[in-house]
Amino acid sequence: MAVDLLLGLQWGDEGKGKIVDVLTSKYDVIARFQGGPNAGHTLVFNDKKYVLHTIPSGIFHENKINLIGNGVVIDPVILNKEIEKIKGEGVNISKSLFISRKAHLILPTHRLIDAASEKSKGKNKIGSTLKGIGPTYMDKTGRNGFRVGDLENDNWEKKYSELSKKHQQLISFYNVELDFSLSELENEFFEAIKKLRKIKFVDSEDLLFKYQDENKSILAEGAQGSLLDIDFGTYPFVTSSNTTAAGACTGLGVSPNSINDVFGIFKAYTTRVGSGPFPTELFDNYGEKMSKVGNEFGATTGRPRRCGWLDLVALKYACRINGVTKLMMMKTDVLSGFDKVLICTNYKYRGLIIDNLPYDLSDESIEPIYQEFNGWSEDLRKLKNSDELPENLNKYIDFLEKELNIPIVIVSVGPDRKETLFR
Ligand code: GDP
Ligand code: IMO
Ligand code: MG
Repeated sequence: MAVDLLLGLQWGDEGKGKIVDVLTSKYDVIARFQGGPNAGHTLVFNDKKYVLHTIPSGIFHENKINLIGNGVVIDPVILNKEIEKIKGEGVNISKSLFISRKAHLILPTHRLIDAASEKSKGKNKIGSTLKGIGPTYMDKTGRNGFRVGDLENDNWEKKYSELSKKHQQLISFYNVELDFSLSELENEFFEAIKKLRKIKFVDSEDLLFKYQDENKSILAEGAQGSLLDIDFGTYPFVTSSNTTAAGACTGLGVSPNSINDVFGIFKAYTTRVGSGPFPTELFDNYGEKMSKVGNEFGATTGRPRRCGWLDLVALKYACRINGVTKLMMMKTDVLSGFDKVLICTNYKYRGLIIDNLPYDLSDESIEPIYQEFNGWSEDLRKLKNSDELPENLNKYIDFLEKELNIPIVIVSVGPDRKETLFR
């Protein structure tokens, strides 16, 4: 049985959590392969809302395996808080949640380095979620990292304190004022480590080999989005992992030829949280309406998300990089009531009309070129079937399918599990 991937095609927050939850019934295993608690994946069902940061979004379904893969970075403090929050739902963590021994841990000092680095950059800051993501991946690639499996060695505390000391020197190197008590942070961390030990540590690639041999179906859940990819995103305004399809191979140990469907998920418009270029960003009433109706505030940090029209140039690029086989369009309901809806089909760049992403997307000469569509006014959240979609919306969808040459198989019309139309 093959592995399917689900990935965000924009700058994150496309609605990955909702769709993974919707699709989970079809799979045996849901696995996160990169990122960490910078992610905020929202699930809504039975009139309740849950935000997951590290735990895969299949966790609310019975008899499913939820795996945190080797490519993920874990903050035990945040993971424990997540577990406490979902316990009320009758989730049996000991049976349904496994962690890769090869996943790296976010130490309190990683978070402090993140804060110091951002502060030292002033107005050029990345706008990181301050969860310690960058510094943890730096230690991973620098071969200094602290892995979950290290906790099984007797000398783990020595390893921890050596790394922590090194980090403290680095923090003072930044020479910025930070308000923190390391001993408080460490107490909280060590308490969380005790609880982390109650979760099953596994050699996750071996487990996935076994599941594949047993013909179990696996869905890999991406975090962030393709334009935040460390290689292909809007560098340096990106996260520190490969958010694109290849990241699932390195972040789980599944081989490229075992991958079947790649589900690419995008909003019917675009949002971005944090700094960095965003060619189709709006500063007018249309943008304000997207933000208000779409309730566009970060699920992890609560920061307002910047809003803009759909960028087809960027979307085409993301589909190509990921080898997307099926598309899912989210938050379509948010655009109801707009008199017109725009799609950026090309950029004007240094006097030329182009259809590719320039090396530096922050180049001030980039100007989006739009195609205009008539809006629709129907309340989509009431619809039960994709046959009922308004004609003007169908024109919008048909245009995108034709341009991308990939079918849009889901149109999402509300945050709830049930507000999902299959095509
Ligand atoms: P993720 O990080 O990709 O999982 O996305 P987030 O959870 O950060 O952000 C998506 C937000 O949109 C959440 O608040 C969801 O509850 C909400 N959402 C998801 N799909 C839809 C939809 O089709 N319509 C509306 N109005 N909201 C949606
Ligand atoms: P989900 O999985 C949206 C953004 C941050 C910042 C940049 C780097 O919910 O879609 P980091 O903390 O990773 O060093 O921040 O990336 N960012 C996200 N934006 N959704 C996310 O995750 C994000 N995770 C990180 O805002 O601009
Ligand atoms: Mg999110």
